[in-house]
Amino acid sequence: MKGIILHGGFGTKLRPLTHTGPKQLIPIANKPVSQYVLEDLRNSGITEIAIILGNIYPEKVKEYYGNGEIFNVKIHYIHQNEPKGIAHAVGLCEDYVNNQPFIVYLGDNLLKGGIKPFVESFQNSNHDAMVLLCEVKNPERFGVAKLDKNGKLLQLIEKPKQPPSNYALTGIYFFKPVIFQMIKQLKPSWRGELEITEAIQKLLEQGYNVGYKIVQGWWKDTGTPEDILEANRLVLDELKPEINGKIENAAIIQGRVSIGKNSLIKEKSLIRGPAIIGENTTIESNVYIGPYTSIGNNCAIKRGEIENSIIMDNCIININDRITDSLIAPYSKIISNNSLPHAKKFIIGERTHIEL
Ligand code: G1P
Repeated sequence: MKGIILHGGFGTKLRPLTHTGPKQLIPIANKPVSQYVLEDLRNSGITEIAIILGNIYPEKVKEYYGNGEIFNVKIHYIHQNEPKGIAHAVGLCEDYVNNQPFIVYLGDNLLKGGIKPFVESFQNSNHDAMVLLCEVKNPERFGVAKLDKNGKLLQLIEKPKQPPSNYALTGIYFFKPVIFQMIKQLKPSWRGELEITEAIQKLLEQGYNVGYKIVQGWWKDTGTPEDILEANRLVLDELKPEINGKIENAAIIQGRVSIGKNSLIKEKSLIRGPAIIGENTTIESNVYIGPYTSIGNNCAIKRGEIENSIIMDNCIININDRITDSLIAPYSKIISNNSLPHAKKFIIGERTHIEL
């Protein structure tokens, strides 16, 4: 089976982070969301993967994944020039999948435990398509499944105002090539997109065999800043502690903490896990890094306290304050202003969000 990772979309809810790159490259515990997806496919035995690129800096995706060799997979890129929806993106892959069953995995979805058991059960089934469902509190945000009392799948509805159940469609789909026939019958939805949910609904209506599985562990669609921070907490909760950098005497490391190569944790700083610190990063004395924090590579945390936040690569933080619940994009600089006049100063991009 081949795998397809969708790497497009507007990422509107994640601006300003998505002004400079696709949402799927936002790091969760210092690794892009879509890398978890790629590794999940690979660990399930799927090594031929197409990445469908959108219009937001697609070259950054190619630069990161290359031909896939360092990730032990073979990557083929397909450009979705117009953002016309998931089903449109899947429709571009007909030649690539070459009449074989395949998996579509949205590049911003994270699934605890991964897809391996589901790949096996799809391969051993006679399903024309199989979806993964997850019980959620806010089903109206997703595609939703209607099941009868015996658990038979009756209908799939995209973002219903009155959801018939709490079972959301995760962004992981198993297909046989018949799905392409359904995609060709689609018309744009109210949001101007070709909906994959409607293509699967057509399979149901036309008597094809659509199976489903309910995922037990957590699943996260990382569409909003809150989702990203939650995904970061969920991944850090399973972090394997690993110290590769240097920790000076009298620095305090508590709980599960991972520190990358060439990083330096100076004396009298406190790092309370779960937390991850990348490579070539310096944590100066008296800095406090609190639980559920990811700090990227080449950062300098000179002063201040940081908790429940993601600080991406190449940032400088030097403040008399605590940063919490924050997403800080690469090359940002946050410093306390000790010179006159004592006022807040900002040089910030479009749709920046600041709470003082
Ligand atoms: C898409 C699908 C939706 C699914 C969700 C999962 O929604 O249309 O059915 O539940 O992915 O992440 P979108 O992210 O396009 O709003």
